[in-house]
Amino acid sequence: MPKLTDLLVPAPLRKTPKPGEAGVPKTPAPQDLKSNPPERPGDLGRFGEQALEAPVEAVAWIDQRMAASGFLTGMLFRKVPKGTNWFYTLGSAALFAFIVQAVTGVFLAMFYTPSATQAYSSISHINNDVFLGQFVHGMHKWGASVMVILVFLHMGRTFFFGAYKYPRELNWVIGVVILILTMTMAFTGYLLPFDQRSYWASIVGININGTGPIVGPYLSDFLRAGPELGATTLSRFYAIHMLLVPGALIALIGAHMYLVVKLGTTAPPWTKIGTQPRVAQPITHLDAGVASNGSGPNGAGPTIAGVQVDGHDGGETTA
Ligand code: HEM
Repeated sequence: MPKLTDLLVPAPLRKTPKPGEAGVPKTPAPQDLKSNPPERPGDLGRFGEQALEAPVEAVAWIDQRMAASGFLTGMLFRKVPKGTNWFYTLGSAALFAFIVQAVTGVFLAMFYTPSATQAYSSISHINNDVFLGQFVHGMHKWGASVMVILVFLHMGRTFFFGAYKYPRELNWVIGVVILILTMTMAFTGYLLPFDQRSYWASIVGININGTGPIVGPYLSDFLRAGPELGATTLSRFYAIHMLLVPGALIALIGAHMYLVVKLGTTAPPWTKIGTQPRVAQPITHLDAGVASNGSGPNGAGPTIAGVQVDGHDGGETTA
């Protein structure tokens, strides 16, 4: 019986099983099939195999109509540089934290009322009466801090590994905007329970923004949405927290991921340099140069104008 994980690999990419693996007999096929017929699976066994194939068939059905497997295999089966380690999982961890925030946020929004008179009682209702309400609220509240910490750690990783350098500057800039928006999410979300702590903390936060040069006073006026923090401030923070920033974050994380897949990841700085130069050569032909999926023409990492820019010795392992 083939393994389920093997079955999930699209048929054209599956490895030919060796004798003794995935149902292929170890011994050569009998010459005389009449007197020595091969063992056949019983009805139950055949049913089991068909049941295992069913999800694969369903995926294949969709794929024939969407032609998505080329894109997906290019994205999921890409090569990563030698020396890739646990620090490279921080970006995916931040992505996971973002997804958790989005999912738990949707459920909280089903019960939360963004009104100065009802916000606090709706949060109490979520915590005390709604099924798993306190759990989901807790996940969202703690998840916010987790996401901010993970995004900072991930930024530290890309900085200390020099991953912000050419040709990934744009991804760094996108990352900086993502970082600001992540902190905006944490700041605007803090006011939503509208209790004493969130009320006074938001006044402090708005006043700190007001001390910024040139735009500071305008920014704090915009955030306060009135002469004093009140109902209009809550509506504004809610709209920023629920619509404006999540939309921008989804678009920017999409662009960030596109660039990660397109350019591949950098090798750790201590990886030995091979024959190829570490620093990028002057660009003569950018478009044709940036090989997709992180593998150059000979599978040796991203290249610009045929020159490898990763600074690793070309050795890679498949993700
Ligand atoms: C929600 C926030 C973010 C998510 C979900 C995210 C996700 C990712 C993922 C999955 C990767 C590839 C794997 C890895 O290197 O960890 C990556 C790479 C990268 N990220 Fe982020 N990221 C976020 C924020 C940031 C921030 C704040 C910065 C910098 C200011 C940044 C800069 C970069 C750069 C430069 C790379 C390329 C790394 C390389 O080539 O080795 N990212 N990001």
